[in-house]
Amino acid sequence: MKKISTLGTSNFSHFRHFYIKTMGCQMNDYDSDYLAQFLVNNGFSPVNTPENADLILINTCAVRAKPEQKAYSFLGRMSSIKKGNPDLTIGMVGCLAQLKGPELLKRFPQLDLVIGPRELGRFKKILEKIDRNSGKIVATRLDLAPPQPVPCKGYFHKRITNHVSIMEGCNNFCSYCIVPYVRGREISRSPDEIVAEAKNLLSEGIREITLLGQNVNSYLWEGKKSKWGFPALLNELSRLNGLLRLRFTTSHPKDLSDDLIHSFCHIKNLCHHIHLPFQAGSNRILKLMKRGYTRENYLELIDKLRKMIPDIAITSDVMVGFPGESDEDFELTMDLVRRVEFDSLFSFKYSDRKGTVAEKMDGKIDKTVKSSRLNILQDLQKKITLKKNKALEGIQLEVLVEGPSKRVGQLTGRTASHKVVNFNSNNSRIGRLCTVTIKHSFLNSLRGEVVE
Ligand code: SAH
Ligand code: SF4
Ligand code: F3S
Repeated sequence: MKKISTLGTSNFSHFRHFYIKTMGCQMNDYDSDYLAQFLVNNGFSPVNTPENADLILINTCAVRAKPEQKAYSFLGRMSSIKKGNPDLTIGMVGCLAQLKGPELLKRFPQLDLVIGPRELGRFKKILEKIDRNSGKIVATRLDLAPPQPVPCKGYFHKRITNHVSIMEGCNNFCSYCIVPYVRGREISRSPDEIVAEAKNLLSEGIREITLLGQNVNSYLWEGKKSKWGFPALLNELSRLNGLLRLRFTTSHPKDLSDDLIHSFCHIKNLCHHIHLPFQAGSNRILKLMKRGYTRENYLELIDKLRKMIPDIAITSDVMVGFPGESDEDFELTMDLVRRVEFDSLFSFKYSDRKGTVAEKMDGKIDKTVKSSRLNILQDLQKKITLKKNKALEGIQLEVLVEGPSKRVGQLTGRTASHKVVNFNSNNSRIGRLCTVTIKHSFLNSLRGEVVE
């Protein structure tokens, strides 16, 4: 975490130093940034180790069993710190906090706070109560609007690229997924609020903004006088002064409109990259998942995208071992991956989530079968990614330079397609677009040379 040196006095008598641990997706990153900004605005300082904090917040994810376990084990470690420091306040926030609620206080007696993602707008009130020693708090209402970030000077997690949440929640209830239960129903923020937040980021030196939403392309805002769909919002934001690049994630295939595809053609600073999860290649499994499209629909979308925007990078999410997934179903997933040749792919083993429809389905797949399918799939994708990256050798690409790389004397940045490029340069290029020739391609990054 970034160090802030000079700060005002804390508005809270019991706290001065905070530590936030963030798990899960970009939406959690964004929420943690919101919390950090709120705390800094109120006179707190961030610290780099939890031992030095008097407020620890763990921002959790509930999407699979793994992040859930990770959150419990981190909380266990924080609880042991508290045994030696009884004044320490520990809070669990985010999706797992929402899911488990008061149960967490029973299981972890050292925990003081449980706050769901839709309660973050009430964080100040919650902290004031804790500061007055008014006992432990569980805040898990799901019907509240997302918080309105206060413009905060000087504290940002990232310096060149940043996120703006434009909608939150999900109405889709895919049969395996816990997100609708922990993030609530879809709610879009007003264009005015979004533009104000983006302008604030730009004034702080941010040059690339990624718009976030669980289903970002179902953004819809209906005001008294006007109605805004997602393409209109993109258009508006793209014109902001100083914005070099605009991105968005995550899109749902069933809501990918022609208008949105056209946006890639006529909005100059909209990066040619789309993250479009497909989840499975078999129609039978897609139906059981309640995804709302077939493999044919998905492949048609990919064709359309590539016809209209030939250099578009396509990335995706997929799952193996969904209940009832046969060898033939899995082969259809492999086939789709071979046909589409994604630029990169996030792949997961299906994980039972309590309370979802899939949890109660028959035909659960053995652990070892899931692992072996995942390995086969990941091996295939590695070959595809490497092949695609190798094809870039000798080609000139535009990179937005984000900062120093791990190697001394090198900078790092990303292409419009979101690939990492490292190259030799002094720091003067940070925050600017620069053209590099790709010299060597690897699986997870490219090495380039600046075109002077
Ligand atoms: N809204 C996005 C996905 C959000 S969750 C969409 O609809 O695509 C991120 C990813 O986690 C999903 O794309 C899915 O691949 C994976 N995921 C969700 N629930 C899961 C589960 N129960 N087991 C394994 N992976 C899961
Ligand atoms: Fe989960 Fe489906 Fe909603 Fe994505 S669309 S968050 S996978 S329920
Ligand atoms: Fe996890 Fe919540 Fe994101 S469940 S994936 S942190 S929306």
